[in-house]
Amino acid sequence: PAAKLWGGRFSEATDAFVERFTASVTFDQRMALEDIQGSLAHAQMLSESGVLETAEFEAIRDGLNAIAEEVRAGKLEWSVALEDVHMNIEARLTDRIGTVGKKLHTGRSRNDQVATDIRLWLRGQIDAIGAELTRLQSGLVELAAKESDTIMPGFTHLQAAQPVTFGHHLLAWNEMLQRDYERLMDCRKRVNRSPLGAAALAGTTYPIDRARSAELLGFSAPTENSLDSVSDRDFAIEFCAFAALLLTHLSRASEELVLWTSSQFNFIELPDRFCTGSSIMPQKKNPDVPELVRGKTGRVNGHLISLLTLMKSQPLAYNKDNQEDKEPLFDAVDTVRDCLRAFADMAPALKPRREVMYEAARRGFSTATDLADYLVRKGMPFRDAHEVVGKSVAFGVAEGRDLSEMSLDELRQFSDTIEPDVFDVLTLEGSVAARNHIGGTAPAQVLAACERARNLLKER
Ligand code: ARG
Repeated sequence: PAAKLWGGRFSEATDAFVERFTASVTFDQRMALEDIQGSLAHAQMLSESGVLETAEFEAIRDGLNAIAEEVRAGKLEWSVALEDVHMNIEARLTDRIGTVGKKLHTGRSRNDQVATDIRLWLRGQIDAIGAELTRLQSGLVELAAKESDTIMPGFTHLQAAQPVTFGHHLLAWNEMLQRDYERLMDCRKRVNRSPLGAAALAGTTYPIDRARSAELLGFSAPTENSLDSVSDRDFAIEFCAFAALLLTHLSRASEELVLWTSSQFNFIELPDRFCTGSSIMPQKKNPDVPELVRGKTGRVNGHLISLLTLMKSQPLAYNKDNQEDKEPLFDAVDTVRDCLRAFADMAPALKPRREVMYEAARRGFSTATDLADYLVRKGMPFRDAHEVVGKSVAFGVAEGRDLSEMSLDELRQFSDTIEPDVFDVLTLEGSVAARNHIGGTAPAQVLAACERARNLLKER
């Protein structure tokens, strides 16, 4: 078995089960390149500060770069006896370049090292996720512009409520995602600080330059307090909170896609490539992709709770508990990336069935509020208008006809304030066009909102 890098004070070998139980290399090897990146910056800073000689730094640098090549090629052999990614790489360095490799860990601890690695790794993932969110939002906004005057029922309580445009509905999804993007970028600011130099918990006696290692790693600044630096994982919790909200939003859109692609609604066609069949029922085409995204929300919510619970009541400073931060974080990142990819691919391919949506809006008495507003404009108090329209709807339900399908005389049974111009507001087109203000569903407003959304996307 590989000799322990910390073996000096021990008089018997680690129990074989304990060795496996405490090791993290099976999963933290995912941060190998970030670990090397952090070590390169640390070593360069040490040499610039005179702690390492230039030749020593160069040997370490060349050795680390060679190990990075081994990692990329999948050729580095990971050892559980060496516990984690940090000690595997350090041991490999000493294998390759000899004793000078043992100088790398001067003025550093695995505690500030692991905090640095996670931040570097997460920052890269945040940037990839931001790009994918942008792709999804662009797809939604362009589809919204194409469907700015496609009429569908808007719902409350999943009952047809008032007509809206499909473009307007898509822009509602986009707003949720816009806030998620802003949350992600806000989280990135707090991820992007350098804990390097906090060492085990109290800092180090070497003349280190924390601002320099932070700068070399592209961090905005060093973290402020050494105890906090090695112990808090709130930046990872914050990322998972972002992820849970994003998935919650995607689950809502997924739910609507599942409903809308059903034969009962039949609003949307989802191309075959996003669906799967049934092994027994030949007629089936199932919306598995949105269903799975909806389902994956549960696991991301779980990761958020895991990390909150992991951090709860931990005394300062580093505790081994924190090794449990990685798997939930990694899985949250993987899940977010997969779900965003699925949605970004799917969004531009959604095919609305415009006539079906139009018919559904027409059948649902969805212009009832417009009739009430019409009566108010003619001088009737809103509550009285509500009553008149309620009676008209009851009549329509009994007759099996929508408001726009009644004759003027039929409508006038309920109020003689109603005149022939009522039919202008009972049409679906008139109803949506009348909601003509910022944030309203009128096609002109949808197009203006698309333009504003495009500009926000361009600024990224
Ligand atoms: N594998 C550890 C982790 O993930 C690295 C830090 C270990 N530090 C320690 N003092 N045992 O947190």
